[in-house]
Amino acid sequence: MSRPIRASISTRALAHNLDVARRHAGTAGVWAVIKANAYGHGLERAARALSAADGYAVLDLAEAVLLRATHPAHRVLLLEGIFSASDAALVAAHGITTVVHEAGQIEMLREAPAGSGAISAYLKLNTGMNRLGFPMEQVAAAYGALRALPSVGEIGLMTHFADADGAGIAPQLERFTDAVRDLEGRRSLANSAALIRYPASHGDWVRPGIMLYGGSPFAERSAESLGLLPAMQLTTRLIAVQSLAKGDRVGYGYAFEAPRPMRIGVVACGYADGYPRHAPNGTPVLVGGKRTGTVGRVSMDMICVDLDPVPEAGVGSPVTLWGAGLPADDVAAAAGTVSYELFCALAPRVPVSEIADFHCVDEGL
Ligand SMILES: Cc1ncc(COP(=O)(O)O)c(C=O)c1O
Repeated sequence: MSRPIRASISTRALAHNLDVARRHAGTAGVWAVIKANAYGHGLERAARALSAADGYAVLDLAEAVLLRATHPAHRVLLLEGIFSASDAALVAAHGITTVVHEAGQIEMLREAPAGSGAISAYLKLNTGMNRLGFPMEQVAAAYGALRALPSVGEIGLMTHFADADGAGIAPQLERFTDAVRDLEGRRSLANSAALIRYPASHGDWVRPGIMLYGGSPFAERSAESLGLLPAMQLTTRLIAVQSLAKGDRVGYGYAFEAPRPMRIGVVACGYADGYPRHAPNGTPVLVGGKRTGTVGRVSMDMICVDLDPVPEAGVGSPVTLWGAGLPADDVAAAAGTVSYELFCALAPRVPVSEIADFHCVDEGL
């Protein structure tokens, strides 16, 4: 039998979460954000499960070309746009929509051999995040320059919010609205947090990511309370059990010391599987469906857990690192990160299987 760690991806959960996004979006089109291998869930698998979306948003041109071939009815958006004039030719040839966030990309589009109106572009505005996009005072000129290119057909207008899950979007929304007042084109602004929290930001196309995977975009609201289902479950088993006397210590750096006699379980999962190495003592884990916590440092292939809450557990007992019964958001919060990072970090060595839903995962001892 092979090492017992598995990631299961629920296609039903992905489709359900897209329904939730759709309900929030109303009449707006939905770009399903499936960059970064669909936040670790598998690009092609996620594209299939999310085929009720109107389009897919990715970062990589090769992925965009693949998606246009496998899902010809869907639009595909390149979120960072192109990196060369030859990219521009590919974008034109495959009918990919490309973000234009800086002047050099307009020059690349100018050089590209492309038919008249072949390229669909989204002009990106830097409304305050100061990552990508044209500053407000350059928007009209950039729009004019794009409009003047015979190869460019449809032009959309987009921005990205820095703090839709926190302080809000008001200044960014106001700048965007002012800058695009006299410009024609579909508007796209909202990530998951803005989609859920700010209907005024929906525009014509929304861009949900994390909510599709069952992660909450908000630190203070659970995914469950938003009607979302976990789409990734990471499970494994105990491969050893140790009985500790009071004062015995565990793992590298002896980072945990037993405050009393206790049993600990050794779990077949470590940072080389994508588990966060910085997860502190007490990071939640399910053993046999019961919640307990990690003890000691996460090592490359193993973590240790307190078995006091699960006296019946032994070698072979099933362990859930996150998924049904243990939201990835809870693990992420304990480890000082976000579920995005946990999902994206899933390591290639972890076998992935696709299931309709998680009820078929064995939680018994
Ligand atoms: C430009 C853009 N739009 C939308 C999203 C989706 O954001 P979220 O996963 O928070 O919904 C991202 C993700 O980082 C993004 O970079």
